[in-house]
Amino acid sequence: MRIPLVAGNWKMYKTAAEAGEFVQQLKTLLKDVQGVEVAVCPPFTALYAVARELAGGKVALGAQNMHWEEEGAYTGEVSPKMLKEAGCRYVILGHSERRQYFQETDQMVNKKLKAALKWGFVPIVCVGEQLAEREAGKTAAVVAGQMEKSLDGLNSEELAGVVIAYEPVWAIGTGRTAQPEDAQQVNSFIRELLAARAGRPAADKVRILYGGSVKPENIASLMAQPDIDGALVGGASLQADSFAAIVEGSRLRGRA
Ligand code: 13P
Repeated sequence: MRIPLVAGNWKMYKTAAEAGEFVQQLKTLLKDVQGVEVAVCPPFTALYAVARELAGGKVALGAQNMHWEEEGAYTGEVSPKMLKEAGCRYVILGHSERRQYFQETDQMVNKKLKAALKWGFVPIVCVGEQLAEREAGKTAAVVAGQMEKSLDGLNSEELAGVVIAYEPVWAIGTGRTAQPEDAQQVNSFIRELLAARAGRPAADKVRILYGGSVKPENIASLMAQPDIDGALVGGASLQADSFAAIVEGSRLRGRA
């Protein structure tokens, strides 16, 4: 049984003060929610303020990025040890914006992923094609390449604990959601790649999320797909009511 996961990726939005206020609202809206795991991933500067508000509740904390070293001369970076102390359970790795604007490669994602597992985080590894790649019929090849290199060297047990987020780059922040059937096709392909690598039992445990213009209006049709196990939400996670509505729409409905 895969428990759905809905994670809000706040990107570079909300100061610590704004974040604290937001989480108070969110906690009230989600206080009775069941059958879904929920996480928020604020900017680094808001982690402690958000952790304070979330303490003892159901909503978990995540980070948007992480360096692979425990410490060192890496100006501007944040380490697994620091995120652990801040109370993070999840960490997003290889988001397309990191790949696009900060030259993050699959090899770097792989190092980060190994560090994340070593430190006991639940990593959310992002993969997805750009518009030109989709139009050229290269979606499967691109996703397979990202999976292969990012997950290199992990054993079946480690793989079973990873979360994958399929985020087609053309659907991010554009209002252009992938058709649920198209997202399902890629998510199911990702599960087959995992099965080939780690065996069916491990692959069946992995939660594969969809991300890209997820809204309260489209969450139900996405979650109706058998291989979509939750959502990584950007814009719509910044308002407490829309994020809570997405969480509500993702609740467990007896998936395999
Ligand atoms: P949007 O929900 O704003 O399209 O962003 C998706 C995303 O990038 C989540 O990581």
